[in-house]
Amino acid sequence: MNIKVIEDAKKYKCDVMVISKFEGERTFIADINQYVVDDDGFEGKFCDTYIYHAHNTLAQKKILILGMGKREELCENKVCKAVAKAVNKLRQIKAKTVCFELGLDKDYGKSAVIGAYIADYAYDKYKSEKVHHLQEIVFGGFTQESVDEGRIFGEAMKFTRDLANTPAQIATPDYLAKTALSINGIQTKIYEKDEIEKMGMNAFLAVGQGSVNPPKFIHMTYSKGNPRKKIALIGKGICFDSGGLDIKPPSSMLTMKDDMSGAACVLGVMRALVELQPDIEVHGIIAACENMPSGSSYKPGDILTAKNGKTVEVDNTDAEGRLTLADALCYACELKTDEVIDIATLTGACVVALGSIASGIMGNDEEMIKNLIEVGAKSGERFWQLPMYEEYKDSLKSDIADMKNTGSRQGGASIAGIFLKEFVKDVKWTHIDIAGTAFLEKPQKEFIAGATGAGVRTLLNYFIK
Ligand code: BES
Ligand code: MN
Ligand code: ZN
Repeated sequence: MNIKVIEDAKKYKCDVMVISKFEGERTFIADINQYVVDDDGFEGKFCDTYIYHAHNTLAQKKILILGMGKREELCENKVCKAVAKAVNKLRQIKAKTVCFELGLDKDYGKSAVIGAYIADYAYDKYKSEKVHHLQEIVFGGFTQESVDEGRIFGEAMKFTRDLANTPAQIATPDYLAKTALSINGIQTKIYEKDEIEKMGMNAFLAVGQGSVNPPKFIHMTYSKGNPRKKIALIGKGICFDSGGLDIKPPSSMLTMKDDMSGAACVLGVMRALVELQPDIEVHGIIAACENMPSGSSYKPGDILTAKNGKTVEVDNTDAEGRLTLADALCYACELKTDEVIDIATLTGACVVALGSIASGIMGNDEEMIKNLIEVGAKSGERFWQLPMYEEYKDSLKSDIADMKNTGSRQGGASIAGIFLKEFVKDVKWTHIDIAGTAFLEKPQKEFIAGATGAGVRTLLNYFIK
């Protein structure tokens, strides 16, 4: 999909022109000196569309009129959603070249382009018959800058969605490491198994030991100028979560190639940072491995010593993400950054609590959490804070180690958060649970089924803010 900006899209020769209609306002097409659609009962309700077969004096064959709802209620998220709706419609009618002349504030370019990217997305690499994509979109009236930023965000989401959609047979720990190494403009260090052993990451290693594919610990660094802030960003990188010896039932295992969506998000974000060039330092960290049952798997009852010396009794091998994150958090805390964020498809309990509509968020610094929730809301992503009451820790009590890796099923998302907290030291930290939002079983709003790129937009906006 090729995206261009021009001053006035009306004269642009292409298949379809998209114009906007606000509720209660009339839509005038100057070139044919005519008010359109008012007579046909098209009110311009938010995301409603109407196709008008154009007069032959126009540069386009068709006009798609896009309902924007009430003018005073317009915001970035609505622009994104409306453009996504239009792009879906344009794909349905097999348009190839289109232009948008929405007559909106010139800074809405970013949201418009992100919406176009979200809706034009398909994972059809393995389909003999490819889906129809738009070839070219020309936006009139937006600034080049805002459209360029939208393109960087859109490409980052696409990159993350592609990675998370990639089958586990391809997206192995080594594949994630190679992907990290392929990103220009950042420094990347891959730690192999023997080095991970030397660092004392025994919780992480235990999770990966049942697989024939060796674990990789990935540390990417983006830094520019005199960074105003230093942040470590950890993504859960379980390339496949079978549950291990506590094996999952088939229906739960089916989508577990997505258990590296946090890692995919981190990779997409790191790649985009190189293009956005904010004055910050970001450490992208991924403890990548597979959770598999085999003769060499870790077992229920095993006791693992994490990097910080704390011991964990394995209560359930399917609570593997927190074990890998425990060591990654210890590593991140040693970097002495101002903040640590982890993003993970961590608990089914979070899916039960929030569904696919919002990600769970918790941490040790209310202001940081509040900030991320706010940036999320402006970025079109919902985060809902879950509590981290000390009492949740009771269910993690072990008779023979410092703690167990799971407690009661009830309150599972908070319990996982409390577990992670044990590995966080002297730093502001936020944990984001994207188990419900990273991968959709069926289409939802502007997203098709599959990976959504959860977290990418919010984290990028948080970093460039
Ligand atoms: N990767 C899963 C969590 C998950 C569930 C992600 C559904 C996406 C969709 C995680 O590793 C897991 O298996 N968690 C267990 C923990 C339990 C054993 C305490 C769960 O939530 O069932
Ligand atoms: Mn699991
Ligand atoms: Zn998992």
